[in-house]
Amino acid sequence: MTSLNATLMAHKAGPFDALMDITSRPPVVFVEGRGSWLRDQTGKDYLDFIQGWAVNCLGHCPDAITAAITVQARRLINCSPSFYNEPMIRLAGLIARHSGLDRTFFANSGAEANEGAIKLARKWGSRHRAGAHKIITFDHGFHGRTLATMAASGKPQWEHLFAPKVEGFAKVPLGDISQVERAISVDTVAVMLEPIQGEAGVFCADTDFLRDLRALTRREGLLLIFDEIQTGIGRTGKFFAFEHAGIAPDIMTLGKGLGGGIPLAAMVAHEGICCFEHGDQGGTFNGNAFATAVGCAVMEEIARPGFLAGVTQMGIYLSGGLEALSRRHRCGGVRGKGLLLALDLGRAIGPQIAAEAFAQGLLVNSPRPDSLRFMPALTVTRDEIDQMLRILDQVLGKWAADPTC
Ligand SMILES: Cc1ncc(COP(=O)(O)O)c(C=O)c1O
Repeated sequence: MTSLNATLMAHKAGPFDALMDITSRPPVVFVEGRGSWLRDQTGKDYLDFIQGWAVNCLGHCPDAITAAITVQARRLINCSPSFYNEPMIRLAGLIARHSGLDRTFFANSGAEANEGAIKLARKWGSRHRAGAHKIITFDHGFHGRTLATMAASGKPQWEHLFAPKVEGFAKVPLGDISQVERAISVDTVAVMLEPIQGEAGVFCADTDFLRDLRALTRREGLLLIFDEIQTGIGRTGKFFAFEHAGIAPDIMTLGKGLGGGIPLAAMVAHEGICCFEHGDQGGTFNGNAFATAVGCAVMEEIARPGFLAGVTQMGIYLSGGLEALSRRHRCGGVRGKGLLLALDLGRAIGPQIAAEAFAQGLLVNSPRPDSLRFMPALTVTRDEIDQMLRILDQVLGKWAADPTC
């Protein structure tokens, strides 16, 4: 710790100047993590309700992941995607067993998994729907930061960024089945959505809407693609959020929690849709033994008896605590499912509240100016939820007393 401090002090230019400046970061360096807690270079502890943006589903440095990393690192890290490896086969089997879908393509990031889904849908359209290639996506949706996934996303700020945009995406409002119906043309091949729009601020697609969408896509012969990168792997209290609606997509993408902190993502599809020919899809690191061994460890933890019931219980407990805070501080209520929740602050103070919470040792995220988002480890305890609520209560109280704080 002392040597890191000395390095930071000794740095002639700003210590962070060799990093490309792509986001506003507090001048703090995290050096250790365990469960729901992070420690910075000065020894200050933070309660982490961001967890790498819903990535560290088992918390920081959980034993299951540390053990899987250690064992696999001694056996085989990588052998090229042109060859099978043991953890890759095992993880694909686990995903198939728990999702009911048949085949997996492994990727390194959510955006790459979504690119794969878009490519697979286009390929399927070229084979089975006379070249249909357009995908209906949703206003305020978020599918990643590659050019195609930015075009698929419905972030208003991205409308003209990095032009020219990748073509082939029609946007409609989330929840309006008649608008989806109207957007369908002979060129349409698929509908793609997040069951809960996480980056937009945690807005759930209604169960009836998801069922209507499944019926509509079946009737029209279109593919239904679920982006479960934020909602999958137990985040909402089920292995996959589509289970809440009692329907199944044709293609699903996973990321974030799948690797529990290691870069790992997946695009999963029904057998009948898997029409890639050799050479259509691939990538140097895809399915490497190291990452997929960690994915197996994560899936096995989530599949343990009682784990998902625990997520549901903690979700209800957190939601109840946030509802109470909302009433006390005249906020606008709570949205979300399981351990993906948002508090509607009722006014555009999210970034200031998140900054003050950070100063008090609590990490929460403000995905939109009027909301805070909570994505704790799925292993979070009641005591940690209580500690978080106490800090947030203080911060909201301080803000009400002095909005300039
Ligand atoms: C629903 C959804 N899709 C895709 C992505 C992109 O994933 P990645 O940042 O791993 O590329 C994210 C990331 O936040 C996401 O929440």
